[in-house]
Parts: sequence; C-alpha cells; structure tokens
Amino acid sequence: MGTSEVWLRLLWAALAGSVLFYLAVLRRYSSGGKLLPPGPTPLPVIGNLHNLGGVVHHKIANLARIYGPVMSLKLGFVNTVVVSSRDAAKEAIVMHDRRLAARLIPDTFRACGFADRSAVFLPSADPHWKALRGIQGTNVFTPRGLAALRPIRERKVRELLDYFRPRAGEELHIRHAIHTAMLNMVSTSFFSMDIADFGSDTAHELRDLGLRRLSEKRFSRVYSILDDIIAQRLAHTEANLEKHDDFLDALLEVMATGKMEREYVMAMLFEAFVAGGDSIAFSVEWVMAELLRNPHVMAKARAELKDVVGSKQAVDEPDTANLPYLQAVIKESMRLHPPGPLLLPHLAVEDGVEIGGYAVPKGTAVMFNAFSIMRDPAAWDTPDEFMPERFLQRATPVDFRGKEVDFLPFGTGRRLCPGVPLVERVLPLVLASLIHAFQWRLPAGMSPEDMDMSERFMTTNTLAVPLKVVPIIAN
Ligand code: HEM
Repeated sequence: MGTSEVWLRLLWAALAGSVLFYLAVLRRYSSGGKLLPPGPTPLPVIGNLHNLGGVVHHKIANLARIYGPVMSLKLGFVNTVVVSSRDAAKEAIVMHDRRLAARLIPDTFRACGFADRSAVFLPSADPHWKALRGIQGTNVFTPRGLAALRPIRERKVRELLDYFRPRAGEELHIRHAIHTAMLNMVSTSFFSMDIADFGSDTAHELRDLGLRRLSEKRFSRVYSILDDIIAQRLAHTEANLEKHDDFLDALLEVMATGKMEREYVMAMLFEAFVAGGDSIAFSVEWVMAELLRNPHVMAKARAELKDVVGSKQAVDEPDTANLPYLQAVIKESMRLHPPGPLLLPHLAVEDGVEIGGYAVPKGTAVMFNAFSIMRDPAAWDTPDEFMPERFLQRATPVDFRGKEVDFLPFGTGRRLCPGVPLVERVLPLVLASLIHAFQWRLPAGMSPEDMDMSERFMTTNTLAVPLKVVPIIAN
C-alpha cells in the first residue's frame, strides 16, 4: 500500500468518525435543546430492531441495565423512549399521563377503519374514546351488569371442569382447554354465544385471526361475523323476544339512544375477545405453573380453600372474596409473568414531557417495561422470587389498577385496561375451581425443579413450553 493510499484511508476514517460523533451528539438533544435519553446507537432503516431478537422485554430490560431506566430506542423509524423503573414510571404517569395517553397506530389496524373506532387506538383526547371508555364503565362492566352474568361465568368454569374430569389421571397440556373456556366465557358474556369448541381448533383459528397476523381481509371476515350477530340480536329485540341480559343487550340499548353507532359496538366486541380471551387464559396457565413449581404455595392455597369452601361441590364466585392468599398468588404470578409485559405502546402528543431529566418530544412512542418495573429492586425485595405473602404484608392493599405504579399488569392511569372488573372476578373463580376439583401433579418423573419456566412473547407473554399436568379428582 502506497503512502498516499494510507493517508486517504486515514482521512476517510477520520471523516467517518467525525460524522458518527456529530450524529451521536445531535441525537442526544431534542429540537428544544433538551437532553434526550441515552440508548444504543441505531443502524440505518432498522434502528435498534437488531438489538431486540429473542424475548423482547428481556432484551429491553438488559439494555436498560446499560443505558438506564429512561432509554431511547429507534424501532425502525419510530423514536421510542422506554421506561423501566418504578420511579421513572411514577414520574411519567403522575406528571404526564394525559400527554402520554395516545397510541401509535400500526397500518394493519387502520384496516376497515378499526383504529378510528377502537378504545385501544383512539387518542384519549378524542371524544369517541371518552365516550367508549365511559360506556364500558357505566353500561358494560358495572357491578350490576357483572353480577347478572355471574351464572355464565360459573357455567363456563363447570364446563372446563367437565372437560378435565374424564381425563383425570392423564398427562395433559391444559392450555388449549383453558383458552377455549376463557374465549367462551368472554364471548358468552358479551353476546351469549360460544365462539370456541372444546376439542376443535376454532379457538386457535380465532386466535390466529386475532391481533397477530391481522390483514384487511381477515378484519372484514371477523367484522361480517360480528355484524351478523348484531343483526340477529336486533331482529330478536324487535320481535320482543326474551332478553339475553348480556353485554350486547346493554350496548344495543346505548345504540338505541343514539349515543353509539353500530361500528363502535362491533369494534368493542372484537376487542373484547381478542384482548380478553388470550390474556386471561395465559394468566391462568402461569398461575398453575407457579403453583406446581411451588408445592408449599399450592398446599397453602388448598388449605385456605378448604376453610372457605369446605366440602361444597363447587366454588361459588362470592367465595373468592374470602380467599386473600389465592388472590395474592394470582398477583404474584402476574407480577413475575405479566401477559402484556410492555403494556401497549403509548405516544407523546405534546412537547414538554420530561422523564428522569430527559426530554420526550412530541411524536415519541413511550413504552413501559412492566416486566422490569414489577421486578425493580427499589420497589420489591428479592424481586425474582415467587413470594405471594409479599402482597399480604403491604401496608396499603394493592389492586389491579396500578395506583402505586410498582404493580401494573393492566397498565395504569387513563389507559388502564377497562377489562379489570371482569378479570378480577374470573381469575380467582377459575383458579379456585381448578384447585378445588382436582389435585394437580406433574408428569411422572418430573420434579418442580425440572419445570421450564422460560417465556415466549409474541402478542402475549406465555410459557415457551406449554404446561403439562395430571389432574387427579380431589376427594
Ligand atoms: C388477564 C387479562 C388482561 C390483561 C393482563 C390485560 C392487560 C391490558 C394492558 C396491559 C393494557 C394496556 C394498558 C396501557 O396501555 O397502559 C390493556 C388495555 C386494554 N384492555 Fe386489557 N387486559 C386483560 C383483559 C381484558 C379484557 C377481558 C378486556 C375486555 C373485555 C380488555 C380490554 C382492553 C382494552 C379495550 C384496552 C385498551 C384500553 C385503552 O387503550 O384505553 N382487556 N389491557
């Protein structure tokens, strides 16, 4: 290599170095001159997507250990700020909830105008979003409405137990049966119909039709099914036939007053079974896995249940109010394995947001890593251990509404999951019933230490290896 060639290379290297340095410095400041959160250097086009292969929330948690609890990532072309600690999340929610309460809308969800009618995607400032959330609170998930549907929940649980009974003694994957039962519980509560069949693949099909690979064609298919259901119900009502007293009846009453259009009813039904069925089912599977991995916890939960339910044939929903230990087990499982570990991405709709001293400019996606927040050592002692007692020992009781921000499996603030009142009834009922009706054993030769608790996260955080167990009829 000649001397001039060496100089040329050095010059190129120096030039490239200074451009990168300049870009890095520029990247650290917002247009208002405020410091932006630090983060790994993005590549052209893909940004930091190459940093996130594998279980995304684990990868993001690892990066936050290097860059801090308020971190910048570029996801493709989207500037994103990730919040990973209890204190940073508290600051974001207490100071800026309203400014961060919009959503980033992926193109697929614009299909059929879904995003414009959806409680998930409309910005919180939009009057339609306010109306939808209002209707959910005052017409759907009301104490009276939920109480009226209690027989449905109890029936769906009985059907699940009836599915397991003839299979007692067999090694089973329980995921499919639980998923079917939970989808039916949600669909029957909403429109008095089972959408899944035990032993068939309908539930899986529907899940696939769901959020994962949604295209305009699939949207149209789901929407035309839902439209038919509404048409049939309207005809039923016009014929003055007996009411169903499900959520659809309540929604059609609102529609009759002109406060809600048919397309919004469809969007709400769609969201309910997509958002509800999966996350409830996977939560049940996680709790069962933790109970089997921790036999002393299972024994304690069983003893509590025996005290409350005794030799009654079945658990009644009101019994679950007297099962504080089981409630703590459910919370502890959701703390360690939230079905939505990154919640749903929020979006900054105004400038002026500052978290941890860093600027979060308007248009930035804000991701809360609930997985990290709920294992933050500043908020939780021995955060990776499964210890339900911690929820019983807290000075102020913790519910699912995320007030304290350190426990937020359903989010918190304006965007809190509206399904909480339904879930807090369903989860304890299903789990208490499963434990009451059966002893659960691991397959022959397997010990709790052998269980693989690895996570897999596509749209919901699940056990990577589905739980296999043996139900034994309890005396
Ligand atoms: C165990 C079950 C469930 C879990 C873990 C769960 C979790 C969540 C989470 C983490 C969010 C996002 C919160 C945020 O962005 O800050 C959310 C939003 C939402 N969930 Fe749930 N959810 C569950 C069940 C349900 C059910 C049963 C329904 C309806 C029947 C439902 C409907 C919704 C809707 C409509 C939103 C969007 C709310 C908004 O953006 O304003 N979810 N849920």
